[in-house]
Amino acid sequence: MNTQAKQIQEAVEFIRSQSPVKPQVGLIMGSGLGVLADYIEQAVTISYSDIPHFPVSTVEGHAGELLVGTLSGVPVVLMKGRFHMYEGYGAELTAFPVRVMKALGADKLVVTNAAGGINTNFADGDLMLISDHINFTGRNPLIGQNDNNVGVRFPDMSEGYSRRLRDVAKGIADEQGFQLREGVYLAVMGPSYETPAEIRMMRTLGADAVGMSTVTEVIAANHCGMEVVGISCITNMAAGILDQPLSHTEVIETTERVKSRFLSLVQTLVSRL
Ligand code: HPA
Repeated sequence: MNTQAKQIQEAVEFIRSQSPVKPQVGLIMGSGLGVLADYIEQAVTISYSDIPHFPVSTVEGHAGELLVGTLSGVPVVLMKGRFHMYEGYGAELTAFPVRVMKALGADKLVVTNAAGGINTNFADGDLMLISDHINFTGRNPLIGQNDNNVGVRFPDMSEGYSRRLRDVAKGIADEQGFQLREGVYLAVMGPSYETPAEIRMMRTLGADAVGMSTVTEVIAANHCGMEVVGISCITNMAAGILDQPLSHTEVIETTERVKSRFLSLVQTLVSRL
């Protein structure tokens, strides 16, 4: 067994020693969106710092806890807070928890994030279903020796975000009576926000929203055969669009404002995956 496979195994064994639940769905909650954790039943909360080989998340609005339990009756594992490359972690490390989720039994992944709106039809507070991504980080979690037991050397990314699950999410938004946007998420390294010129470039490239996470996790999830659905909370319009400065405070305030819509969408989604 290679080093990473061993590390995954050790993390899995520790998590299993804490909870008997065998998760079917993994959830990764972005900045300010960890509130979903409060709705997990029979929850066992494990601090990242206690899980073998797990890095520790350092950002405000990211708690750094793994929860195992049930959501809408479905066994889940939820990350409250994720690892970003701007914290200094390598791409492979940001993807480690995804592989652990898969090894625990989850074959579906719900990723969420806070993002800046590039599409000028969007407004802050919108929720956007991720149809596809542009990995603008220049990093990839699969660089290095490939573990053929986990996935193939050159994984297909032509449906990185499951069409089937996107249709399910759209159906729920219709039922719940709100407009769910759909678009392309472009990931940058951060941590500085983009310049207005960069945002114009990204729009030209076909991006609808920009953020500093998600793509490495989604690449790793596709590699190991998970079906992925992604939701961005448009917390602000991207730099240069509204002629006002961007701040993390605004990001957190907007997630707070859209929390109930976000919660009902994700809770229902999990029950229909
Ligand atoms: N840019 C990058 N990441 C973000 C933004 C943004 O405008 N808003 C929330 N996360």
